[in-house]
Amino acid sequence: MKPSLLDDPAATGTLDAAGMLGTIARSPGFATWVLATHAASDGKGTLAMIASHVAGMTIKGVFIVGMGGSAISGDLLADWLRPVLPVPLLVFRDYDLPPWIDRTWLGIFLSYSGNTEETLSTYIDAKERGIPGICITAGGALGRFAAATGDPRVEVPGGLQPRAALLYLFPTLAITFSGLGLVDGPAMAGELRGCIPLLEDTCKRYGPDVPAATNPAKQLAMKLHGTVAAIYGFGQYTSVARRFKGQINENGKNPAYFDVLSELNHNETVGWENDDGVTGHVSCIMIRDPDHESPAIATRAGFTRQLVEKKAASIIELQPTGTSRLARMLSLVLLADYASTYLAILNGKDPTPVEYIQGLKDELGRKVNMLQALEQRLSVIAGKVND
Ligand code: PA5
Repeated sequence: MKPSLLDDPAATGTLDAAGMLGTIARSPGFATWVLATHAASDGKGTLAMIASHVAGMTIKGVFIVGMGGSAISGDLLADWLRPVLPVPLLVFRDYDLPPWIDRTWLGIFLSYSGNTEETLSTYIDAKERGIPGICITAGGALGRFAAATGDPRVEVPGGLQPRAALLYLFPTLAITFSGLGLVDGPAMAGELRGCIPLLEDTCKRYGPDVPAATNPAKQLAMKLHGTVAAIYGFGQYTSVARRFKGQINENGKNPAYFDVLSELNHNETVGWENDDGVTGHVSCIMIRDPDHESPAIATRAGFTRQLVEKKAASIIELQPTGTSRLARMLSLVLLADYASTYLAILNGKDPTPVEYIQGLKDELGRKVNMLQALEQRLSVIAGKVND
């Protein structure tokens, strides 16, 4: 293997000016912070606050509202808990709720910045319908909205890009959800705690000090470089595939899309029949987990691989590490974090800023100013709360 730019600390440090690689390396510590801060069952902290908020309520379903780097925590939670959930757990990314969501549901509103208009708008919609809510945020308008309505506000430290705060947001969401009493909360916290050594070890294996020759995250970035990334997941790795796509977009500044087995065998696969050279610009990542794949999924994945490898720029099979369901999911999440950051460096970009997202948010603030209208609706709701 020829020397890689990724092994040049000076070049890497210059491009990664805001220190995304350092943030990823510290991120297992974020989960430790959450467990220490929000998971205490001493009858006083976050869990007690949530239990008292839902006391006497029969929860028919839970929905999580968020966008982008905040919403993905909801997807991860739903995939993780799918085998044990007694009620629906849905993720909404929109400006309002479907008409059939009523007061028998509980909403968890997740926005790292606290200023995302879709999340704020859906929160107001929920409060106008009398739906109980819990807000998770590092501050912003969502924190103020929760203070005005009296809903619990669970806080995480600010100062990061939302996507880089995943290991604050996801564990906080998990602990918050566990406080609803729908699943075995101590077992959830235990599984989460059990992931931390694996996450720390994963950071050591993929970190910038490990040369490309022995660093799977750098190797993955080098294969993706110059191509559109297609990430194929299945089952509980649906959210992981989605996170991979988002990280390749936002960190890597690179086009990417994701799809999942078995659905992709009913449409996406046929696209690979193309002979005009389009497919030669696509790198395909297939998430595999042989010990946890059904025979049908294993057969589908093998068949799909045979079709794709004839045409793709490259095909890469990724397998998780760890033993618990959550550890296996998060091991791939960290790989995505590192590989996408290395891809940004190969693309000559700083992984941290997201100018196009910020530019659109600024434009919406200037042209639509939804916050003003939401504040007015909030004052009506808050007036009723205080009557
Ligand atoms: O990663 C990002 O910066 C985005 O995907 C944001 O998460 C998204 O725009 C929503 O913002 P927030 O997470 O602050 O609600």
